[in-house]
Amino acid sequence: MPNEIMITSDEEGVGTDVVRVGVLGTGAIAQRLHLPGYVDHPNAEVTAVCDVEEEKARAVADEFGAQDHFTDYRAMVESGTVDAVSVCLPNHMHEESVTAALDHDLYVLCEKPMATSVAEANRMIAAADESEGVLMIDQSERFAPVYQKAIDLIESGLIGDIQTIRARFSHSGPEGWAPRSTWFTDADASGGGAMVDIGIHNADLVLSLVGDVDEVMAYTDTLASDAEVEDTAVANLRLGNGGLGTFEVSWTTDPEKIETQVVGTEGVLTVDKVAGTIAVDLSDERGRVEEIPLPEYRSPIARFVDAVVAGEDPPVTGEEGRDALELVMAIYRAADRREPVAVPLEGGGE
Ligand SMILES: NC(=O)c1ccc[n+]([C@@H]2O[C@H](COP(=O)([O-])OP(=O)(O)OC[C@H]3O[C@@H](n4cnc5c(N)ncnc54)[C@H](O)[C@@H]3O)[C@@H](O)[C@H]2O)c1
Repeated sequence: MPNEIMITSDEEGVGTDVVRVGVLGTGAIAQRLHLPGYVDHPNAEVTAVCDVEEEKARAVADEFGAQDHFTDYRAMVESGTVDAVSVCLPNHMHEESVTAALDHDLYVLCEKPMATSVAEANRMIAAADESEGVLMIDQSERFAPVYQKAIDLIESGLIGDIQTIRARFSHSGPEGWAPRSTWFTDADASGGGAMVDIGIHNADLVLSLVGDVDEVMAYTDTLASDAEVEDTAVANLRLGNGGLGTFEVSWTTDPEKIETQVVGTEGVLTVDKVAGTIAVDLSDERGRVEEIPLPEYRSPIARFVDAVVAGEDPPVTGEEGRDALELVMAIYRAADRREPVAVPLEGGGE
């Protein structure tokens, strides 16, 4: 890992790598997951936060013990007080803030969706390539123990060659998550509706479980609100291995439904993420496997710090974040044009 991490000493005098972290945007995800995640990590220290709302920045700095607060992200990344940043800003600000941080050779954990277009995502990857820093995208759902286990089981060949995947991701929408944040339904700030917001998770899960998607056909609609962006999307997928898939996303279910089923030549694997269960029905006399031990949960924030300290590649690369976004954008394009759309997108997703 190219950057030098500050070395401090703990009480016993043993050297410890401490990553000084700045959190950019102090809204819902920053307060609920990023800041507590860094505070809990023995190798991280929150030294700065930044929010355009100064009162909020100050209050969050006090609550999480950050020495500095900023209202301008450029001032934070230039300050010399942080080695790493979490980007927890509205989606349309990801490219400029991530690029600024990478230009200062910082380690960057950027929230999903990586950006609001594939072209932006490609520029972020180029900035990471030029930087001494590192870029990780927070495709957090794949780290749920049920999905970590499902990825391992499929890779092990337990259910044989993949024939189909059925992937569904839905909850009641952003109002319950961040009631004051109107940007989620403003297409200029968010890049879209339910598809960019949570379809990006569904896309990352499909790609992580069964590999590439070659082509999509899709519909999007706004079924349950008067928002200008879609709250529902359905798509059919042609997988890279020749298999097929169905893909459903919506902001219309309470409680949330996060369910994935993969059919292989040797069996059927079913994940219910909300229930925390995974089951495998094997197609021969081996029957059904229900008591599948799950790995311990390690959050993406902890994994980011672990990777920085160990000098390892980030657990979700910019390219993987871009690929999930490209699938989302292909679904939008297919729905708009009412025709099949190939992935990667023609024209590079401009
Ligand atoms: N991984 C997940 O499952 C998950 C869940 C929720 C949100 N997110 C992502 O996290 C990001 C933030 O979402 P959120 O729910 O925290 O939204 P939010 O609206 O609660 O927080 C955004 C914060 O950014 C601040 N901000 C806006 N413009 C700014 C600027 N120019 N400079 C500094 N601060 C500015 C706002 O004041 C606000 O505090 C989004 O990209 C979202 O998609 C990811």
